[in-house]
Amino acid sequence: MTEATITGEKTESPTPGTGHEGQTFLVGDEIYLRGIDVADAICAMSWRHSLYPYSVDLNKEWIKDDLAKDDDLWFVIVRKSDDRVVGSVQVEEDGVFFWISAETDRLFGEAALRWKGEAIALVATWIIDERGQTTAYTEIPADETPVIEKLEAAGMRRTVRFRELLERDGQRVDRLGYEYLNRAWMAVLGDPRERRLERTGTGEARPVPPPVTLEGDPPRNAMMVGKRVYLRPEEPDDSIKSALAARQETETFFDIGRHLNSPVMLDKWVSDHEKAELPSWITFTVCLRENDEPIGWVALLDVDYQNRFAETGSFFGSVEHRGSGYGSEAKQLLLEYAFERLGLHMVQSWVYFPNTRSAAALRKQGYSESGRVNWLYSHNGTLGNFVAFDLLAEEWRAMPRQDWTPA
Ligand SMILES: CC(C)(COP(=O)(O)OP(=O)(O)OC[C@H]1O[C@@H](n2cnc3c(N)ncnc32)[C@H](O)[C@@H]1OP(=O)(O)O)[C@@H](O)C(=O)NCCC(=O)NCCS
Repeated sequence: MTEATITGEKTESPTPGTGHEGQTFLVGDEIYLRGIDVADAICAMSWRHSLYPYSVDLNKEWIKDDLAKDDDLWFVIVRKSDDRVVGSVQVEEDGVFFWISAETDRLFGEAALRWKGEAIALVATWIIDERGQTTAYTEIPADETPVIEKLEAAGMRRTVRFRELLERDGQRVDRLGYEYLNRAWMAVLGDPRERRLERTGTGEARPVPPPVTLEGDPPRNAMMVGKRVYLRPEEPDDSIKSALAARQETETFFDIGRHLNSPVMLDKWVSDHEKAELPSWITFTVCLRENDEPIGWVALLDVDYQNRFAETGSFFGSVEHRGSGYGSEAKQLLLEYAFERLGLHMVQSWVYFPNTRSAAALRKQGYSESGRVNWLYSHNGTLGNFVAFDLLAEEWRAMPRQDWTPA
């Protein structure tokens, strides 16, 4: 390994093609990985995973100010033959779960996909086989065949398919989830694929309640109005009520135990999202039309405006309003907002295995199961799974319209 690559003064070694020499791990057939240097700013548009252009100076600042503080692991993907940086890998650690995101510069053509696949496989096997962690997971576009070949050759397994989640070259493309699980843990806990998913509810999709005709004015500040409930923006007072409801929570199965919230932090979190120009989270308070009482919350999480998808989330802090169809009624208003106002193409949702009520509600709302994401959290002496769902705008539009809510 040459001194130049270690000091970070220069991205390329004095003798191109020798940068990987002496490196003992994370070296593949065509690429190797190394930590990011300030000098990598020179070609950051090849590896920054950004849609937008940034000058070299701005990239230097970003590397020093943001990346240096980032809790995620970041590596550049370097071509062995000439030490050219061609992409990067980001690894987000969330308890037992390691989410790997890799991109290589499309301008390098077909080879870029081989390098991407090689990089993900190197990182996944290093995290699990060498560092002894439990779960490595990645999501990739379904049309990236060279990547899929590399992942499968390394023993990664496909576990979920989100339909039409991405838009590429004018086409909708599925996104696939691949996992690499620790075999030693599997010997103890068994293969999570064999774990049965308990189900409750009828499993039948209900019609979408038709739009209501308002007699008189809409509720104040409402954005979407249904028969029994309406959606409005969150207000500071809602955070106080949510924090109080959390203290009075009686159910423990829908999350990993109960949580205490600070109203100040909740409010800050909500207002930060509301102030953003293109908010990544879009949250609504669900209120009863009869008395304007707030009973819950529905939201679009991690909205991707480029690919036009989001995750949906719901939470009814008021326990007595769970299991009576309010969640599904509010969700239908959120879906109308997502598909008809925001123009999203699809939504996805993730549910803890034990939360059979939430899964039943999603089936009732028209979502389909897209697979599982396994071993995402540790709980009660084992590792827990999520079941994933998706729903396309065109499927939602084709659903019958009929009121099923109680009079
Ligand atoms: C998830 C939630 C938003 C769903 O809203 P909801 O109003 O309860 O949903 P619905 O009443 O429309 O549908 C519930 C479905 O679960 C079934 N169900 C009701 N109570 C249940 C229970 N205690 N356990 C399991 N299933 C139950 C119902 O039979 C119904 O299915 P069906 O109509 O096909 O028979 C709401 O229950 C909630 O806020 N739960 C706590 C937070 C949460 O779990 N959030 C989601 C995290 S992924």
